[in-house]
Order: sequence, then C-alpha cells, then structure tokens
Amino acid sequence: MEFTEVIKNRYSCKKYDSRQIEKAQLDAILAAGRLAPTAKNLQEQHIYVIQSPEALAKVDALTPCRYGAPTVLAVAFDKNNVFTYPGGKRDSGVEDASIVATHMLLAAYNAGVDSCWLNSLDPEKAAAALGLPENEEILMLMDLGYAAEGGGPLTNHGSRKDLSETVSYL
Ligand SMILES: Cc1cc2nc3c(=O)[nH]c(=O)nc-3n(C[C@H](O)[C@H](O)[C@H](O)COP(=O)(O)O)c2cc1C
Repeated sequence: MEFTEVIKNRYSCKKYDSRQIEKAQLDAILAAGRLAPTAKNLQEQHIYVIQSPEALAKVDALTPCRYGAPTVLAVAFDKNNVFTYPGGKRDSGVEDASIVATHMLLAAYNAGVDSCWLNSLDPEKAAAALGLPENEEILMLMDLGYAAEGGGPLTNHGSRKDLSETVSYL
C-alpha cells in the first residue's frame, strides 16, 4: 500500500469481529516494530503477543478498550536499558517504545489489520497482571483484529487541526 494512503486511512478501530489475524500479518507487524529507530540503537523494547483466552481475560480486567480484538500487543521497554540524555532530565524509554508502537500501528493497516492504541489502563497493574519482569514498563497495549460491522472510523478520525495551528516557522 502507498505510504501516504496508510498514514491517511489508518484509524482507531473500536469494534472487532472474532476472526483471528493471520500469522503472516502478525509477523509483518512485529517485523516493522523491529525496524524502528531507538536512541543509541538500544532496542530496549519488549513486545508481548496476547492471544490466549486467559491472557485476553487479563487485558479485559485492566481496560474496557479491547473491543473484542482477538490479538493484543503489550509494548514494554526495559527501564534499565534506556539512554539518559545529557542534562539528565529525560530518557529514551517512552519515546523509543512509542516509535516501535507507531511502526507497528501503521504496519498493521498496511497488512490489512485494524488496530487501536490503548492507554486507558494502569501500566503498573498491567505489568503485574501480565507477569512482566520488574525491569520492564508497559508503554501501551495495541488491539489488533478485523473491524466488525460498524467498527469503521469514528467521526473524529477526519478531524485534524489545520497545520497553521500546530506548525510555526522560526
Ligand atoms: C496515545 C494514544 C492513546 C490512546 N488511548 C486510547 C484508549 O485508551 N482507548 C481508546 O479507545 N482509544 C485510544 N486511543 C485512540 C484515540 O482515541 C484515537 O486515535 C483518536 O481519537 C483519533 O482517532 P483515529 O485514530 O481514528 O484517527 C489512543 C490514541 C493514542 C494516540
């Protein structure tokens, strides 16, 4: 698919049918995350693929936002392997994991898979419930599946601020 088409048409799906995504699609999504840039190339991300009924039930206990998706990715990062920028005020963990997640979100659409980025959850409770090691923090969960009838883009998908409101030339 054309890159411009992917970034324009990708949307947050909030109603999935029960069909599981294909392994080749999941592999393409995970491979796109692997290619994401990270600070100092630390690649501190860790992606958890959640598909078993038991693990999906844990997701449902954490957030109302699975919307029936048959696959959920948990995107985490190793808090002990982030780059702290000079000055010590910020480190790369959240931003590296965000780039990985964004790659996968766009790759999902490109592969014919609908998705939604989820942050409506307590990341510490989520890490504990999913059994992550102490050194890992959850950035987000990503629903993956096929839109059910009525699961298409919400009206706000087409609503974006004008560039003049968000871009300044200095
Ligand atoms: C950082 C981030 C967090 C989000 N968290 C949630 C969430 O917890 N639950 C949800 O239903 N949608 C969530 N969304 C989806 C947004 O509501 C959606 O992206 C936004 O309304 C624009 O719609 P669109 O993605 O279809 O263009 C999140 C999106 C982003 C980028």
